Amino acid sequence: MNPELHPLFVEALHLSEGLQPTPSAIQRVGKATSTEAATWAFTQWELRRRGAVKFARASEMLFTTDGLAMASSEAVARFHAGLFPEGVEVADLTCGIGADLIALAERGMVVGLDQIPDHANAALWNLRAHDLGGLVYVADSLVWAAHEKPKYVFVDPARRKGSQRTLNPESFSPSLSALRPILDRANRWVMKLSPMLPDDFLGSISADLIFVSHEGECKEALLVGPSENPVTKAIHIESGEELLGETSAPRTEEPRGFLWELDPAAVRAHAQGAFRVPQLADAIGYLTSDSPPDSPWITGYRVLWQGAFREKVISTELRRNQWKPTAVKTKYVEVNPEKTFKALRQSSGSPVQVVVYSHGKALRALIVERVLPA
Ligand SMILES: C[S@@+](CC[C@H](N)C(=O)[O-])C[C@H]1O[C@@H](n2cnc3c(N)ncnc32)[C@H](O)[C@@H]1O
Repeated sequence: MNPELHPLFVEALHLSEGLQPTPSAIQRVGKATSTEAATWAFTQWELRRRGAVKFARASEMLFTTDGLAMASSEAVARFHAGLFPEGVEVADLTCGIGADLIALAERGMVVGLDQIPDHANAALWNLRAHDLGGLVYVADSLVWAAHEKPKYVFVDPARRKGSQRTLNPESFSPSLSALRPILDRANRWVMKLSPMLPDDFLGSISADLIFVSHEGECKEALLVGPSENPVTKAIHIESGEELLGETSAPRTEEPRGFLWELDPAAVRAHAQGAFRVPQLADAIGYLTSDSPPDSPWITGYRVLWQGAFREKVISTELRRNQWKPTAVKTKYVEVNPEKTFKALRQSSGSPVQVVVYSHGKALRALIVERVLPA
């Protein structure tokens, strides 16, 4: 396969660069090329604009709408690639438009497969746009892998059907049971899955489990196999810091001077015990300490007020201290944060946040202000 574009499409891309997609501009480019090429080219520029959030060289790449939505961002893809030994040939069984394939190709030989021709075409184009080698096939990777028996395998099964997402592993494409024999033959395999899959399911696969934090969100659960003694970890992409999961923290009823809000991937990995600081009552993901946090895993807040959750009392405190709430956060309690936010609204004051949590049956609240990292 060559990453070739029909000359009319190349010309349309060139002519439409920097233009607003107005009917007259599309018509003008269409007259010089073809209507199909013009429509495609304006769509590419829109996708390239959106792709800039994920890719440094988005303006040289090709995308499909679905392919871009499903693509790993560059920094996360590099982390995936680093889970393989350098220099080995890795088969990416679900390469999409090639985000992971590019990162893998930066470290060694790659074979990418996708059953959608537009995805495979874009993946090959995108490899070459990054001056990288590698093969890409339009194929059902299950059929290909049964024959080729790859030893290093990356797979990011599709979890969408149209606009719907599924959490049923048997509805993924490819399904997990169909992948099993391919993974069992591999020296190393890495599978990207939704972090929303239940612990029971993720733990039932004998593999290391890594929850990935990027841009403040828990983006994915990665399974890395084979593993004789599986561990659970969280990785913070921006800092490169790792946390060991499955560590519990002691609890305290009393909030101390600072509230520590844990990164969602650390919470998902059950790593709240990693900081040797107690959890605040039943508020999973909130720790409390006498000192501000100094960790990329934690957002810190100074505790300004604490008490029972009563909107009237909190309102009075806010007004008296000239504090203006910018958000109401609730953790595992049946309180509607939008409704409470409206009830507590103040027109001016210094910015604070209200946190509602539970201690047994009691609802408690804090007024906190953000402390910036030193
Ligand atoms: C989640 S996307 C992969 C995104 C990719 N990791 C990236 O970062 O760009 C999944 C891709 O797998 C492809 N796919 C699903 N089942 C497949 C199969 N049996 N063989 C080949 N490709 C398949 C889909 O067409 C889709 O492009």
